[in-house]
Amino acid sequence: MLAAPINPSDINMIQGNYGLLPKLPAVGGNEGVGQVVAVGSSVTGVKPGDWVIPANAGLGTWRTEAVFSEEALIGVPSDIPLQSAATLSVNPCTAYRMLMDFEQLQPGDSVIQNASNSGVGQAVIQIAAALGLRTVNVVRDRPDIQKLTDRLKSLGAEHVLTEEELRKHEMKNFFKDMPQPRLALNCVGGKSSTELLRHLAPGGTMVTYGGMAKQPVIASVSQLIFKDLKLRGFWLSQWKKDHSPAQFKELILTLCSLIGRGQLTAPACSEVPLQDYQRALEASMQPFVSSKQILTMC
Ligand SMILES: NC(=O)c1ccc[n+]([C@@H]2O[C@H](COP(=O)([O-])OP(=O)(O)OC[C@H]3O[C@@H](n4cnc5c(N)ncnc54)[C@H](OP(=O)(O)O)[C@@H]3O)[C@@H](O)[C@H]2O)c1
Repeated sequence: MLAAPINPSDINMIQGNYGLLPKLPAVGGNEGVGQVVAVGSSVTGVKPGDWVIPANAGLGTWRTEAVFSEEALIGVPSDIPLQSAATLSVNPCTAYRMLMDFEQLQPGDSVIQNASNSGVGQAVIQIAAALGLRTVNVVRDRPDIQKLTDRLKSLGAEHVLTEEELRKHEMKNFFKDMPQPRLALNCVGGKSSTELLRHLAPGGTMVTYGGMAKQPVIASVSQLIFKDLKLRGFWLSQWKKDHSPAQFKELILTLCSLIGRGQLTAPACSEVPLQDYQRALEASMQPFVSSKQILTMC
C-alpha cells in the first residue's frame, strides 16, 4: 500500500454500525492506493509497478502490504497525484453517481448540498462545475469561515452559506437570480436536511448519503404534499452490487480523466505516517478540521 485515507465509514465500521462488516479479525480502511509488487502466473489485468485501488469496500487498506485477488483491485493511471488515487474509490464515485442518477440536470441547473467541505462535498463541487452545474454549498459556521469559503469557491463553488444563513428569511429572494435546485445532497440529516428540503424546487429530489449529525431526516408534511418532494438514499456499495465491475471501472476512468484535466483534485488532506495512526484517527473524529487524514506507507 502507498496511501490510504481515514473516512467516517471506516470509523463506523470499527464501531460496528455500518451496513457492511468484515469478519474479525480484520484490517481497517476501505479506500487507498497500492502498487503491484508481483503477480501470479495467471494474472493478466495488472503487472508489477501498476497502481491499484480497491474494487469494493472491506479490503482493509491500512496496512503496508497484502496479497489480493486480481478481481479485488482496479488499475489506475500512476500519473495522477497520489492523494487523488488514494481518495478515488469512494467519495468522488459517490458524488458523480448522485449528480447523474437521480435528476436529469442540464448545464445551468443548480444543486444544493450540506457538509460541503466533506470529501464527498468537495468532489460534488468540482464535478458539478465540470458539468456546468451551479452549486449552493452549506457548511457549519466556524471562526475561519472566510478561509473555508474561499477554498470551496476556488474549487468551483458558486455560493457558500452557513447553516444559519440558510435559515434566514432573506433566503426567500436567493433563488430569484438562479434556478431553484431540483437536487439536494444530504450528508448530515436533522435540521440541516429539513432546511435543504425547504429550498428544493417542486418535484425535486433530496438524496441522503450520510448521517453526520446522527439525527433523522425530518420533512415537513406541507413540503411533501404541496411540493411533491422525493426523498431517496444512495449507497455506493449497493450501486456496485447493481452494476458490473466493468461499469465501476468505467466510472473510475471517467473520474481519472477529470483528474487528468485538472477538474477534480483530492480533498484537502493531511498526510500522516502509518505508525502515527492513533494521532490520525483522533484528528479524523474532530469537528471543523476540514482536512482528510491520509495514512502514508511509502
Ligand atoms: N452512501 C455512500 O455511498 C457514501 C459514500 C461516501 C461517503 N458517505 C458518507 O458521507 C459522509 C461524509 O464522508 P466524507 O468522507 O466525505 O467525510 P469527511 O471528509 O470526513 O467530512 C465529514 C463532514 O461531516 C461534517 N460533520 C461532521 N460532524 C457533523 C455534525 N455533527 N453535523 C454536521 N456536519 C458534521 C464535517 O463538517 P465540519 O467541518 O463542520 O466538522 C465535514 O463536512 C459520511 O457520513 C460517509 O459515511 C457515504
